[in-house]
Amino acid sequence: MKDASPQAQPETIYLKDYKPFSYTVQQVDLLFRLAANATRVISKIAFAPNPQAEDQAENRRFFLHGEGLKPISLKIDGTPVTPREVPGGIELDAPDAPFTFEAEVEIDPAANTALEGLYMSNGMYCTQCEAEGFRKITYYPDRPDVLAPFDVRIESDLPVLLSNGNPGTSGPGFAEWSDPWPKPAYLFALVAGDLIAHPDTFTTRSGNTVDLNVWVRPGDEGKCAFAMESLKKSMRWDEEVYGREYDLNTFNIVAVDDFNMGAMENKGLNIFNSSAVLASSETSTDANFERIEAIIAHEYFHNWTGNRITCRDWFQLCLKEGLTVFRDAQFTADQRSEPVKRITDVIDLRGRQFREDNGPLAHPVRPDSFVEINNFYTATIYEKGAELIGMLKRLVGDEGYAKALDLYFTRHDGEACTIEDWLTVFEEATGRDLGQFKRWYEQAGTPRLSFTESFNNGTYTLTFKQQTPPTPGQPNKDPRVIPIAVGLLNPNGDEVQPTTMLEMTEAEQSFTFDGLATKPIPSVLRGFSAPVILEHESDTQTRAFLLAHDTDPFNRWQAGRDLAQESLLTMLRDGAGPDNAYLDALLSLLRDDTQDPAFRALALGLPGQDDIAQTLADQGQTPDPQAIWEAFETLKHARAEAFQDVATRLYAQYQVTAPYSPDAEQSGARALANAAMGMINRLDGGALAQKQFDSADNMTQQLAALSALIAVGKGDAAVARFYDQWQADRLVIDKWFSVQITGARPDEAADVAQRLTQHPDFTMKNPNRFRATLGALAMHPAGFHHASGKGYALLADNLIALDPLNPQTTARMCTSFQTWRRYDADRQALIKAQLERLLATPDLSRDTTEMVSRILG
Ligand code: ARG
Ligand code: ZN
Repeated sequence: MKDASPQAQPETIYLKDYKPFSYTVQQVDLLFRLAANATRVISKIAFAPNPQAEDQAENRRFFLHGEGLKPISLKIDGTPVTPREVPGGIELDAPDAPFTFEAEVEIDPAANTALEGLYMSNGMYCTQCEAEGFRKITYYPDRPDVLAPFDVRIESDLPVLLSNGNPGTSGPGFAEWSDPWPKPAYLFALVAGDLIAHPDTFTTRSGNTVDLNVWVRPGDEGKCAFAMESLKKSMRWDEEVYGREYDLNTFNIVAVDDFNMGAMENKGLNIFNSSAVLASSETSTDANFERIEAIIAHEYFHNWTGNRITCRDWFQLCLKEGLTVFRDAQFTADQRSEPVKRITDVIDLRGRQFREDNGPLAHPVRPDSFVEINNFYTATIYEKGAELIGMLKRLVGDEGYAKALDLYFTRHDGEACTIEDWLTVFEEATGRDLGQFKRWYEQAGTPRLSFTESFNNGTYTLTFKQQTPPTPGQPNKDPRVIPIAVGLLNPNGDEVQPTTMLEMTEAEQSFTFDGLATKPIPSVLRGFSAPVILEHESDTQTRAFLLAHDTDPFNRWQAGRDLAQESLLTMLRDGAGPDNAYLDALLSLLRDDTQDPAFRALALGLPGQDDIAQTLADQGQTPDPQAIWEAFETLKHARAEAFQDVATRLYAQYQVTAPYSPDAEQSGARALANAAMGMINRLDGGALAQKQFDSADNMTQQLAALSALIAVGKGDAAVARFYDQWQADRLVIDKWFSVQITGARPDEAADVAQRLTQHPDFTMKNPNRFRATLGALAMHPAGFHHASGKGYALLADNLIALDPLNPQTTARMCTSFQTWRRYDADRQALIKAQLERLLATPDLSRDTTEMVSRILG
């Protein structure tokens, strides 16, 4: 569609320039006449001068955002007006008194492949407005600090017509909705389609009955039950743990196939990527179920942390996202296993956030500038943002946290807030000065924490040092407050000092423990009490000791991971074989049936190949992705040989005979059995995997078997059968695309990915499919970084093709290149050439331009 207003110039927006909008909005009335290529949006908006706006009447500016809109008519107080077109929208002369603005515009949802604003997906209309998509629907002050009640009328022949809030009148060809809670435009949503409801109800603790629905396309109705159960659990949990009740008569969730992100918390009408809702044992893995439960919870929890209390501006994004990720992690820990949740979260944090924090895209949890806000929905804002909440809670204690949250909800309900507001409630509720803590929000980069120990006359001293390397635009870093959870063990394995929270505030600081008979063995950073890199040289013996005896499950797991990492690094550095101490320690753990199977499966996990590359780079070495891949192969093979007997026993012992359930217990058993199968697979040439593939009645086992067969080069028949079985199921076919690439040998991965982009089921228009193919390649370090450069070229080709269709997903996928400076000169030159080619593409989107420029540095 032709853009009627001039394209906004790529301009940097600064936090320091924040100014409130000159007007407030009293009421929004929207009428949608839906038509695939020519939807009419008729708006009536009541404005009034904003008493909070500092500017005086004479320089009050009536600016409305608008992008790609075809104006049909605009009126102020009933009189037609002609707008001045300005970058990003329009400007009008408006009275210095309350007035009504009316607009009729035309938009083209069927042509909207960016999946932002109002668009179509498989014949249904849906919206995605966060962060700045509402301006593609109609003229509006599209900023989170402008809140208003919305009334919506939808006219269409489609059977199901949904919007935010409570349902009003409806009849053939129309439906009306009314949302009483003032909200910013980014929370607006509309859905229209031929949809089927999976209904239920929930009674809040004060006795209101809420109608719940999960809406899906015909054919998917059998995959809604798990999402519904997760929703009801989330609603109860938020009442019990945070005292937060739901506040409308209806709560709708809609599954959409074409969606840029996981899901969106629109008030009363959450819209989900279908991969984050639809679940069945035949088509979803245990990991899929867990992710769905967490995302349902996350979006539901936003009703209070995000919707009732929203963000003043997009620099404050972590205010809602960090807090809501923290809340959904607490929820998952309560539903499942707390240590397992913590360990998997830390694996994810290191893999995605540390990587971001250590490269050209590093930015503070609260950034102070951006070009395209969609580029800031990052692991730093979300996951590091959540870590900051966890640290705050550790520092003020559970009671202080509860008091602060109560104050936050009562004081700021209905407001658009800042990180300052957030920290102030903690300061007032607990009497603590959080001035230094605020640095965590302002300074990018992952602190390196190291320690030394000494023991003298029964006194044990730990001396810590912290240091944060420079990040783009921030050469110098000040010391942070770091909560360091420490426990001490004596040499026979008894705990002599239970977990204590040390509060480090200086660059270097000592802490002492008295009255100890012998020099203890420290267990430092228990539960991963702060998002730092703990740098500590430790001998293999101490690590094996901690793996066997630490009472803190996180640090037990960490000790095993350290052993694996040390072994891999030694193999790479000295060409040594796998470390026997690691193999022995792991073997004893595997044999120990008193240990949770899920925990043992995690202990069997290896660090990511990319984590090893990052560690080498941190140590000033140049990682060779091929050599890393080979070291992993050697280590995995050595483990398979050393653990033959126990693997056979575990595989048999942890077969689940009960009917499938995605609960923690069964998934832990399947995880361990599948890990055992993976080891056996290396020795039996795929025999057991083939058996499991043939008999599997759930996706967790079927997919694990398929991936094992591919790993030993025996996958062809299974790959073909899997496709025949599942070709009608898009989400399963996504897995089919990914598994062939992630399981390919390094020299073949790019060719497999290239071939799959030619498959008739490959499409640029579905972000899930694009990620399942090109994203899978980027997650295969040795394949993506193949010395020929073919991986880089394939990704760049596809990004160049995707950018005009979907800038947001293109920009996000550019992050696959962010680690380029770690590599050798040849690889750097190959990547740089692709990045420069991308940047030189005519009409490259603002999203991708910003991303590639930052990566190039
Ligand atoms: N607020 C959503 C969530 O976390 C994410 C939506 C982000 N959308 C975007 N276009 N950047 O749950
Ligand atoms: Zn969120």
